[in-house]
Amino acid sequence: MNTTRRQGQMKLGAFFHPTGHHVAAWLHPDAQIDAGTNFRHYARMTQVAERAKFDLVFLADSAATRGGNMKALRRWPQYMAYFEPTTLLSGLAALTEKIGLVATATTSFNEPYNLARRYASLDHISGGRAGWNVVTSSNKAEPYNYGQDKLPAHGDRYGRAREFVEVVKGLWDSWEDDAFLRDREQALYFDPDKLHTLDHHGQYFDVRGPLNVARPPQGYPVLVQAGASDAGRDFAAEAAEIVFTAQTELAQAKAFHDDMKGRMARFGRAPDQLKIMPGLNPIIGRTEEEAREKHAFLQSLIHPDVGRELLSPELGGVDLSEVPVDEVLPENLIDDSVDSSKSTFQRVADMARKEKLTVRQMYERYGGARGQRTVIGTPTQIADQMEEWFLAGAVDGFLIQPAVLPTGLDEFAETVIPELQRRGLFRTEYEGSTLRENLGLHRPVGRYASQG
Ligand SMILES: Cc1cc2nc3c(=O)[nH]c(=O)nc-3n(C[C@H](O)[C@H](O)[C@H](O)COP(=O)(O)O)c2cc1C
Repeated sequence: MNTTRRQGQMKLGAFFHPTGHHVAAWLHPDAQIDAGTNFRHYARMTQVAERAKFDLVFLADSAATRGGNMKALRRWPQYMAYFEPTTLLSGLAALTEKIGLVATATTSFNEPYNLARRYASLDHISGGRAGWNVVTSSNKAEPYNYGQDKLPAHGDRYGRAREFVEVVKGLWDSWEDDAFLRDREQALYFDPDKLHTLDHHGQYFDVRGPLNVARPPQGYPVLVQAGASDAGRDFAAEAAEIVFTAQTELAQAKAFHDDMKGRMARFGRAPDQLKIMPGLNPIIGRTEEEAREKHAFLQSLIHPDVGRELLSPELGGVDLSEVPVDEVLPENLIDDSVDSSKSTFQRVADMARKEKLTVRQMYERYGGARGQRTVIGTPTQIADQMEEWFLAGAVDGFLIQPAVLPTGLDEFAETVIPELQRRGLFRTEYEGSTLRENLGLHRPVGRYASQG
């Protein structure tokens, strides 16, 4: 008997990078080549994901084009020209009814009032399906678009993020749920006793409020976090309801899961109010051999200029453009004091130091999945892997990151989803109509609601 066998069903997100998650996806003949600014492409994919009963679609973001070496950038469209995600999700909301819509926005280069307003609006437009992936930014090009010339230090970024989220939640509580009377007979539109002014004065922000949008249908849109450093984990344990993460081994995923759920107690939160969903890049074939061939073909499409450029920011922006790709990365190019994403830095540094991979091997491994887990095989083999992690209690679900879009999503929806459903591991119908309901998350009570 397996006493750790868990109950319930897994949660699934569909992560849409325009042409697909593989760094060379756009060179693949199946990819939608103008995907970044092709609304029809996103509309169709979101409808496919909704028919497959995914909990949510997720869009990443950066507040700048990627900086770097133009010799490489010209071969790599990612983050160069694509839709602002909350704008895109507003359009997708109108075409769907049940699927959650999660967009990234940075707390380092926004103001709380702007984002509180934008996500509250998206929650209303979608009927309670909005989510916000709160990021602190690690792209060094972003500050230049906001009157600054460097990113704030890692600790400061998280300090600001914590206060930012507190202010945003306060603004979402500006109006009690029943504040709007809309009573024509008495000519009363709202009850002023149910309107609250935040009057926040903190280390980073002074915000009076109230918000000029009614309380969101979900109370608060679902809060998502994806930083894996110590500061990132604490922030997630305090504030997040979904964590996207990048574990590649079961033991490591289980340790991360237990650590995160353990940290939540300090903030008085129940473990089931956080859903941990590591990224998973499925490469699906009718046979295992076919899947391996598909993967090898994609890897062969990575241009060495792009491969080197891909690794550079993860190592703190070091110039790799002259490094020979068939040799091990020299130790003097690995600087432990970098102030970029610490969790990613460690993963990449370990490939050179511990595994002694060549630069080509590093970028092939990292490039395919950007440091995240790739599972190559038949639909049954992929479902087996997902089942193993889920039943081991290492994850609450997965963020599916198709290598090539739209075809990778179609294949997953047509082959792996039915297999998971047949095993009772995934829903066949949505449980509710809001993202919170489908994820099994409580709807937060407004902070003033009990005051009558
Ligand atoms: C699945 C996933 C998606 C992410 N999406 C974004 C994104 O869209 N924009 C961004 O700036 N960072 C993104 N990140 C990075 C993290 O949110 C985080 O800001 C970064 O890892 C730095 O934090 P850390 O030092 O705590 O790890 C993502 C990370 C993961 C694992």
